[in-house]
Amino acid sequence: MSVAPVAADEPAPAEKPDATRARPDGWWKSAVVYQIYPRSFADSNGDGMGDLPGILPRLDYLKRLGVDVVWLSPVYVSPQDDNGYDIADYTDVDPVFGTLADLDAVIAGLHERDMKLMMDLVVNHTSDEHPWFAESRDPGSAKRDWYWWRPAREGHQAGTPGAEPTNWGSAFSGSAWQFDETTGEYYLHLFSPKQPDLNWENPEVRRCVYAMMRWWVDRGVDGFRMDVINLISKPTELLDGPIADAQRYSPAFVPVANGHRLDEFLAEMNREVGLDVANLISVGEMPGASIDTALAATDPSRRELGMVFTFEHVSLDQVPGGSKWDLADLPLPVLKGNLAVWQEGLAEVGWNSLYWNNHDQPRAVSRFGDDSAEFRIPSAKTLGTVLHLHKGTPYVYQGEEIGMTNTNFTDISQYEDLESVGYHAEALTLGLEAEAVLRSLSVKSRDNARTPMQWDDRSHAGFSEGIPWLPVNPNYVVVNAHAAVNDPDSVFHHYRRLIELRHRDPVVVHGRFALLLPEHDRLWAFTRTLENTVLLVVANMSAAALELPTDQLPDLTGAVLVLGTHGQTDGSTLAPWESRILRLA
Ligand code: GLC
Repeated sequence: MSVAPVAADEPAPAEKPDATRARPDGWWKSAVVYQIYPRSFADSNGDGMGDLPGILPRLDYLKRLGVDVVWLSPVYVSPQDDNGYDIADYTDVDPVFGTLADLDAVIAGLHERDMKLMMDLVVNHTSDEHPWFAESRDPGSAKRDWYWWRPAREGHQAGTPGAEPTNWGSAFSGSAWQFDETTGEYYLHLFSPKQPDLNWENPEVRRCVYAMMRWWVDRGVDGFRMDVINLISKPTELLDGPIADAQRYSPAFVPVANGHRLDEFLAEMNREVGLDVANLISVGEMPGASIDTALAATDPSRRELGMVFTFEHVSLDQVPGGSKWDLADLPLPVLKGNLAVWQEGLAEVGWNSLYWNNHDQPRAVSRFGDDSAEFRIPSAKTLGTVLHLHKGTPYVYQGEEIGMTNTNFTDISQYEDLESVGYHAEALTLGLEAEAVLRSLSVKSRDNARTPMQWDDRSHAGFSEGIPWLPVNPNYVVVNAHAAVNDPDSVFHHYRRLIELRHRDPVVVHGRFALLLPEHDRLWAFTRTLENTVLLVVANMSAAALELPTDQLPDLTGAVLVLGTHGQTDGSTLAPWESRILRLA
């Protein structure tokens, strides 16, 4: 246990915030967030695993990029079943990452440089090794009700196939219910069996979560990224769902996501932790959330969250009703149309978060751009242009700023991620072709995002002096931060200029968004307008030159190039993957 001033289930002594104070305007609206996935960022002690002391010497790199906030994926005490998204102690740091003092040093280092820290908050579930769950295993304990324990399905022998309380499948693989021999009951886990779901219906659970959050705020963190937060309000009755062909279970997310008490819980959390009154940044991860859900959660008058992560645009390359492992085509009109609908939906009320990738998604340049030697750089830059010029708070995932690509695994033994390994086993059981399964993994596996950060061209890309926990992408010799920082035309410097532009020009933060030529299948064009200022963004999303349809675009006479991917070009032809931000006269 840590130096935490309180036991894990006791409220912290921190003062409750004064909810009568007015909500200040969100500073995070003009901010850019950088996500650090700590186990893959920088290793200071040669054990092959990134850690907190490894982050410290890299803070100046982040400052140079210009980001305002670091979102740190979980560093809490954890058995690491899901790389830290399974927490066994919310108020201490796992030894693989360092100590609380190391985390304090990162917070101080960020604050000294005028940057902020957003902690990952994983409270839909804990680890099965959390003391709360250990206690909950005892049916006589007051904590039994802190998790979702249920008897076997009526008329079934507990522990036998089909006896699970419902037919729900977990997000990773297998049933969402785990049988407990000792008590003959099952507990619910929407993710791995080592991630039992907390019961938010129980007010004590909520009280302890809020107290823990206040403890972190008092320690100096500036906000929270809330893991799968729209799963916390479960239905009152847990009922079977439909099972699609070639599936064994009904996806548990469908009946659980965006439950009837979600807004109530979020508002209570905001009030009790003082998210608004302390002017903290908050973003809720919400798989399966609609614009309406996001609108409710980010409407300032409701005082819930600052913004949410939608999953719609990262689910478009799957078959409708299918799974993330589908390899469906993604026509440009569908992608830009989806982003535009969200821009529209949250235009007046609420706020968008903007992202291409994170630790759960494949690398943006491989998925939405072109990671060939010829077009990796321009397409990575153009993806940056397009995303950062939308209205909302942009997120940069480590390595995106240097155009890191998907990796090259060809054998299941190379994968570490439990979701990937679980999918492989389940798919083979269901009779899918091994080759097709490996192909899906190579395109969609989360491990694509988790290979170590490529710092330079030394062995292991300067990430570690030891053997990295996941092999470095062999392209590190060319794709690395050292090379990018030293090349004024790199993806890094394009991202740096995009971030600078956002900081400098209010039209990028507040301007009204309008999509142009929505049906064009290679051109992504839109305007941002604030009073008399109009920016026009034109982006060639293809590997062939593109003649601008000037007759269908705003008048370009007198337009000034604010930032382009190909330097000071003009004329009406965009080179492959060229994009320009123009200020209209
Ligand atoms: C979120 C995290 C993901 C994790 C899951 C369960 O989606 O981003 O990495 O596996 O929740 O905590």
